[in-house]
Amino acid sequence: MRPGLEGYGRTDGGPRSPERAAVVAGLGAAVPETVVTNDDLARVLDTDDAWIRRRTGIRRRRAVAPGQATGDLAVEAARNALASAGAGGAGAVVLATSTPDQLCPATAPNVASRIGLGPVPAFDVQAVCTGFVYALASGAGLISLGVVDSVLVIGADAFSTLLDPEDRATRVVFGDGAGAVLLRAGSRTERGALLDFSLGSDGSAEDLIGMRAGGSRQRSTGLPAKVEDTYFSMQGQAVFKQAVSRMTESARDIAARTGWAVEEVDSFVFHQANARILTAVARRLGLPVERFRTNIAEVGNTVSASIPLALVDATARGELTPGQKVVLTGFGGGLTWGSTALVWPGPDPLLSELSTDAGDFLPKYR
Ligand code: COA
Repeated sequence: MRPGLEGYGRTDGGPRSPERAAVVAGLGAAVPETVVTNDDLARVLDTDDAWIRRRTGIRRRRAVAPGQATGDLAVEAARNALASAGAGGAGAVVLATSTPDQLCPATAPNVASRIGLGPVPAFDVQAVCTGFVYALASGAGLISLGVVDSVLVIGADAFSTLLDPEDRATRVVFGDGAGAVLLRAGSRTERGALLDFSLGSDGSAEDLIGMRAGGSRQRSTGLPAKVEDTYFSMQGQAVFKQAVSRMTESARDIAARTGWAVEEVDSFVFHQANARILTAVARRLGLPVERFRTNIAEVGNTVSASIPLALVDATARGELTPGQKVVLTGFGGGLTWGSTALVWPGPDPLLSELSTDAGDFLPKYR
């Protein structure tokens, strides 16, 4: 085990100090093997590669194999995050997902058990595409309070399992995958510390995105669900507009809370909902779109996995470099939205391994 990581896996708390903060110590990713190209979809749906690329920026996405579940992807991504940090374990698991392995119980305890973490606290966070930011906030809270000294924060979804096979509007957009970040206890002044959070929701607009069947409101009727309610649906244009305005406001708010001007931010790693949404946000912020890191062409919208997968990909491409000011922003069903900010870690023995041997921990996109 690397020096300084001996405390990983401890659940006996730690010092409570105002300077104590959660620091990014490792990154990992996992995607299922099956690649679904736009042409594959065009063979079974009334759509085509040119439309999908023009309207979404997506070229291909991944899909789970029969019997493969969110937890399988989460375990692989989490193991890769631990390996990237040279860590033997973690003190807690927070899993962001909207597609748990089963409706009840949560998937996180099983993931923790499969990784061999022992009896650590483990729970799921359900905030659809904002889930990873909410999970980071939960993990950072556990560390700041001294409850644990490290947390595996995982975003994983097998969203293809919720889609109507005949719905071209959703099937072209979503893909499956998982990403994970290992947080360790450190100080606010260190690079990699999560500096603040800006989180929000608007439940009055819950009908814009969702899947109605399977929850208590439907099951309490005692009646079988309508077929259309058993699939995920969204009002694409309304969601698009909300995504642009909420993510723009959220990025502005986190910059202000952190004491940064938005112009100072070097890298925006946003939820990858649609390439046009990133362009629209960049325009509203008056910033070049090149500062918005993206991998949507290769993986589509992977819901909770979107931000950590984009982080891993941007790190591997050398787009996130030590000392950069970085803002992470999510938006999704609920509606929910949220951001956090950090100075990208390194030069640091933990992440220098990631950048030199990144191939070991990254999904093979191409
Ligand atoms: N291929 C071809 N045509 C399609 C299509 C597809 N895959 N999907 C929709 N269309 C058609 C529509 O039927 C419509 O046809 P019509 O004009 O004859 O009625 C036309 O394209 C325009 O539909 P619209 O819904 O206005 O398209 P859009 O430009 O808004 O793109 C989305 C659709 C879903 C790609 C886009 O709305 C989107 O990305 N929304 C946000 C999604 C999102 O972020 N969801 C998750 C939230 S985190």
